[in-house]
Amino acid sequence: MRAQFITLDGIDGAGKSTNLAVIKHWFEAHHLPVLFTREPGGTPVGEALRDILLNPATKAGLHTETLLMFAARRQHLDDVILPALEKGIHVVSDRFTDATFAYQGGGRGVPLEAISILENWVQGDFRPDLTILLDVPLSVSMQRIDANREKDRFEQENADFFTRVREVYLNRAAAAPDRYAVVDSNRERNEVQTDLEMVLNKHFGISA
Ligand code: TMP
Repeated sequence: MRAQFITLDGIDGAGKSTNLAVIKHWFEAHHLPVLFTREPGGTPVGEALRDILLNPATKAGLHTETLLMFAARRQHLDDVILPALEKGIHVVSDRFTDATFAYQGGGRGVPLEAISILENWVQGDFRPDLTILLDVPLSVSMQRIDANREKDRFEQENADFFTRVREVYLNRAAAAPDRYAVVDSNRERNEVQTDLEMVLNKHFGISA
């Protein structure tokens, strides 16, 4: 099996950090070479763009924001993701292009067709082999965001924004069930962990 590109996505407060640790542990337990990275970010240019994009003081229009996400992504692909995959190292990215469809498309209202054009231009036909979508009801997401002391530029958005973000994620997952695994992360930690492990076992053809 060639090296796999796996992305983890979902609305803010969906529990990515906790579940990334589960995924890391799974790769360690199976002795599979893997690189963990994130978007926006993953390279010096990407991390600098991340600082701009997440800073509440930044006044960027919706199209500028979208272009900056893709600018960070191109650098990330060139410098980190594609070289690792070519060396046979699996890559797990904390967010990828689904987040642009969900946040800039759903949240901000950039036409999804425009995002598709950018996706094709920046990525060619490169897409994740598997996207794990962590899903929680909006009330849970809002509670978890509120628990953060300092909110970034996206976390400061309101419930309507996140309702639209979640809807786009779920629509994309429903439209391509072979590529997405939707995991209900509004459950006990060990139940979510079992589900995640099952998703990874299935994807890599490993019997538990
Ligand atoms: P996070 O790393 O804590 O998830 O923060 C990243 C934020 O950036 C999150 O609120 C989602 C947002 N984002 C977008 O709006 N568009 C994108 O394409 C990506 C990758 C992230």
